[in-house]
Amino acid sequence: MCGIVAYLGCREAYPILIRGLHRLEYRGYDSAGVAVLNDEGKLNIYKAVGKVSNLEQVAEGHDCSGTIGIAHTRWATHGAPNEANAHPHISQSGDLTMVHNGIIENAGGLRDQLKAKGFSFRSETDTEVLLQLIEYTQQKHGADLASAVRSALKKVIGAYAIAVIDRKEPGTIVAARKSSPLAVGLGEGNSEFFIASDASPIAGYTNKVVYLNDEEVVVCRRGEPLYITTLNADKVDFRTKEIDLDVTMLDKGGFPHFMLKEIFDQPSVLRDCMRGRLLPAHHRIILSAVTEHREELIGAKRYLMVSCGTSWHAALIGKQLIEQFCRIPVEVAYASEFRYSDPVVGPGDVVFAISQSGETADTLSAIQMASERGAMVFGIVNAVGSSIARASDTGTYIHVGPEIGVASTKAFTGQTTVLTMLALAIAREKGSISETDYNDAITELEQIPDKIERILAKNDEIKALAKEYVDKKNFLYLGRGMNFPVALEGALKLKEISYIHAEGYPAAEMKHGPIALVDEDMPVVFIATHHNLYEKILSNMQEVAARKGRVLAIVSEGDTVVKGIAEHVIEVPPTANFLSPLVSVIPLQLLAYHIAVSKGLNVDQPRNLAKSVTVE
Ligand code: F6R
Repeated sequence: MCGIVAYLGCREAYPILIRGLHRLEYRGYDSAGVAVLNDEGKLNIYKAVGKVSNLEQVAEGHDCSGTIGIAHTRWATHGAPNEANAHPHISQSGDLTMVHNGIIENAGGLRDQLKAKGFSFRSETDTEVLLQLIEYTQQKHGADLASAVRSALKKVIGAYAIAVIDRKEPGTIVAARKSSPLAVGLGEGNSEFFIASDASPIAGYTNKVVYLNDEEVVVCRRGEPLYITTLNADKVDFRTKEIDLDVTMLDKGGFPHFMLKEIFDQPSVLRDCMRGRLLPAHHRIILSAVTEHREELIGAKRYLMVSCGTSWHAALIGKQLIEQFCRIPVEVAYASEFRYSDPVVGPGDVVFAISQSGETADTLSAIQMASERGAMVFGIVNAVGSSIARASDTGTYIHVGPEIGVASTKAFTGQTTVLTMLALAIAREKGSISETDYNDAITELEQIPDKIERILAKNDEIKALAKEYVDKKNFLYLGRGMNFPVALEGALKLKEISYIHAEGYPAAEMKHGPIALVDEDMPVVFIATHHNLYEKILSNMQEVAARKGRVLAIVSEGDTVVKGIAEHVIEVPPTANFLSPLVSVIPLQLLAYHIAVSKGLNVDQPRNLAKSVTVE
């Protein structure tokens, strides 16, 4: 949901800002813009509708010099994605320029007040309203930029991560955040500051990062140390974190799209996810959060899981894992519903927040509410240092590296792997799993990355198969038990990148309605691997075949029965029932990818979507 970058230092700002925007483009790509203040004190601002590459074309051949600048890639909330609404915005006097990620909820009222005071507006955005409010405050009180930003922010309701430059203070950037992420990278000495929505634009320049907290304002001034205050101007002592971001993970590594790279990354990143935690030689799973919070975890009355989208699908799998192994009841809620449902949650409950980005606004609000009501919050997050990670009492990172493709793939398998380790670790502490089952589970889990490699070797086969489905308008995905959430995930992958309507359903529910949709033009994807409900799903498949539905089935290697019913099958290596989602989802990711590519669509940046949903 919009990405911002800012730079102040001794190097040319423009290339750093553009590179940063490319890395943040996953957050939105409706428009992009950059403002650089040159040595003569002139602000040069360039904007373009669409991608960052369009912006580069617009700026080419123009003056982009200067060692201080701000930049933005937009996912539209207020106002159409056109050039006028693109950031950076400029204040009435032309002195101030600002980029913003978030939503100012009382922008309408403030706009009217500012109009009454003689301000006019060039865009429909809430951002311009905040900028003009800063300028008004400066003019009214003769305030410097930092003081004006603090006072203006006290008047706004909503979410913001902003970076502002004032031509009158050419060596300063003021930035602030509330409910939208912001990180500040510290270069050598006091001479260099990198500000960004996440650490990816900073990686490669410095590994020292400060993550701002809500309602903090940071002043980056040439030659001076970083200075952070509250909105009331009270100084804040901050901590610098060392980031360990593998810059090669931020490139496509020879693949045509991030999504395909991330699908192929899965064997290695899942090994990283298990490294040091799954210890087959010692027959142990060690998760520090479980060791440190053993009593709360095994003594909890029940668990709740809150998340959105793909992470919600992982939660549905986590529920089954925990209920099976730990015999603790688990409720799964969409974070967006939970936060407005006046939930019955309190002391004794453990609330798991599952999130790749760690910035999803609804998930963050849900755990803040759960925390206020006395529950313990356990984060299962990918982005290190993110808001959800910091708002959690404890947690386990999934450690699958940055996920750039908008459609989540490796984060899903990473979340599922962590949830599996978590269920087994808690079960062992609780004594609800036998030693033999625990040891067998560890052995099986360790083999998953190798099994995924075997599925990835079928990429060409799945690519060829995908071509047969390109013209379809609808799909059904059916699974049962552990594979029902995989059916939901397969359908979500397809619809978000190929724009084909797809429904995921528990296979047996089909005859309570959706079977009416089945005809010779309806592809029905069954997840029919050899598991406890295999016989049942065969009957469901027969029901579809009898109505001439076109069955594509994910089956265990060597299955001959399904081959007699389905039009196409994709074989996956056999595994234990509880691990089945980790293998059965892989062909569905590849199928969605190849269908979308065959349709000529940009799978990394599907229309209307953004990677990190930091607005509700
Ligand atoms: C789908 C997808 C989204 C996210 C959802 C939650 O491919 O990526 O549905 O899963 O927006 O995001 P996180 O996990 O960052 O909280």
